[in-house]
Amino acid sequence: MELNRLDHVGIAVSDLTAARGFYEGVLGLRPAHEEVIEDQGVHEVLYRMGDAWVQLVAPLGPDTPVGRFLAKRGEGLHHVGYSVANVSTALSELRAAGVETVDDAPRIGSGGTRVAFAHPKSAHGVLIELVEEGSGHRGS
Ligand code: CO
Repeated sequence: MELNRLDHVGIAVSDLTAARGFYEGVLGLRPAHEEVIEDQGVHEVLYRMGDAWVQLVAPLGPDTPVGRFLAKRGEGLHHVGYSVANVSTALSELRAAGVETVDDAPRIGSGGTRVAFAHPKSAHGVLIELVEEGSGHRGS
């Protein structure tokens, strides 16, 4: 398979306002995109960093994947997103290689991207997100 570039680093935060205070107020980043993704149970803010983004993800409730992650492990690195040309193809290649995937098929992610996740169990402890650019816009 072929990964094009690092797309984003996803950071799980429990309080998006407080986290934004740090990333924007202290680190001086400017938000490029903000979105509530009901399907994934998250409220996200993206910051552009060169060719990639830093993504803050706060849970919409405790009974969501990020909510359960926070309860178990606390705030911190949640996933790493890699850009691929075609997420369906990349997902098939991972599954053919015996990698356990969270998704059976791609779903819609931030800014209309098509995404799929591979389980950390199969990826040395890191949740991996495959990202195919969509028709939407994630800001610049
Ligand atoms: Co992500």
